[in-house]
Amino acid sequence: MRLRAGVAIDLGTVNTLVIVTGRGLVIEEPSAIAVDRATGRVAAVGMAADALAGKEPQDIEIIHPLRDGVIADLDASAAMLRAFLRRARLRRGLLRPSAVVCVPGGATWVERRSLIAAVESQRPRCTVRLIDEPVAAAAGAGFDLAAGSGAFIVDVGGGTTEVAVLAGGHVVRARSLRLGGNVMDEAIVHAVKAEFSLLIGRNAARSLKMTLGLDGGAAGLVEAVGIDAARRTPRVEHVPGWLVAAALESSVAVIIDAVQQMLSDIPPNLAEDVVRGKIRLAGGGALLPGLASRIESAAGIAALVVDDPLRCVVRGAAEILEHGDWVAGTQAD
Ligand SMILES: Nc1ncnc2c1ncn2[C@@H]1O[C@H](COP(=O)(O)OP(=O)(O)O)[C@@H](O)[C@H]1O
Ligand SMILES: [Mg+2]
Repeated sequence: MRLRAGVAIDLGTVNTLVIVTGRGLVIEEPSAIAVDRATGRVAAVGMAADALAGKEPQDIEIIHPLRDGVIADLDASAAMLRAFLRRARLRRGLLRPSAVVCVPGGATWVERRSLIAAVESQRPRCTVRLIDEPVAAAAGAGFDLAAGSGAFIVDVGGGTTEVAVLAGGHVVRARSLRLGGNVMDEAIVHAVKAEFSLLIGRNAARSLKMTLGLDGGAAGLVEAVGIDAARRTPRVEHVPGWLVAAALESSVAVIIDAVQQMLSDIPPNLAEDVVRGKIRLAGGGALLPGLASRIESAAGIAALVVDDPLRCVVRGAAEILEHGDWVAGTQAD
């Protein structure tokens, strides 16, 4: 038996991932919870809750408690986290299990404390460490943080984009933008409505974003099903790549601007590490077709999407759990 059981948690605005040491990735689900309106009881979490989002069931409320990168509903966040942990079935080792948790950069101190408390209240009782998400992303991207090397991370999530420069396990400069894949999806919904008078859902918008991206995709035109704004009946439309690219432009400009600002403020001793280590893109938004090359040409240094960007943070958190006593984190007392 292991001396110490361990759990690594990436509590993202769109997806929550959990790795249990020795068992690997045990949870990879949307950050969503469904609550019974009458009783307040948790009706579903994760995939089952998210599948009902936007479909307006009368008796239950679907909550995405971290949607915008701030913890909009602390009770729902804690309930969701506890439900995922129960499902992960953490077993006790000889020592108290340890947990490494990553939350969006926008979370306040009070919110962080409450999430730590939610993990701690779970059985078996864990010793919890909260880690800055970009530090976990850099560890997941393979940087040798223990050796103190520098890294430039752009983590494009659903509700937030974190732009950060690190040295070893420490944040040197960081910005958390309240913008990510969700804002991009909304921009596509608006553009399709304006151009074709067609009301599409978030899922349809997301799939247009993934297929067409910033450079129109290979297909050029992609089918989308929505509701005709005038007749209120379902209709199919062929959405061109240029429309999607134009809709995404303002979000991309904000991300690029943040990258450029951060590059202009790098301590000289970190410049070489950043140039040699390249700008690393993590998070689901890193997969947006055309984003890495746009950042690369605007920044003037190489930009690279990390391996498996959706799981990079949780992988890094698991790495820190096993080998990362040197990483700075908020320790629960
Ligand atoms: N292939 C893709 N192209 C563009 N965006 C993508 C792709 N795959 C996932 N995404 C977007 O990534 C976001 C989720 O990324 P994730 O890193 O899990 O976010 P978070 O950490 O905030 O939960 C969503 O907005 C999703 O639409
Ligand atoms: Mg994330």
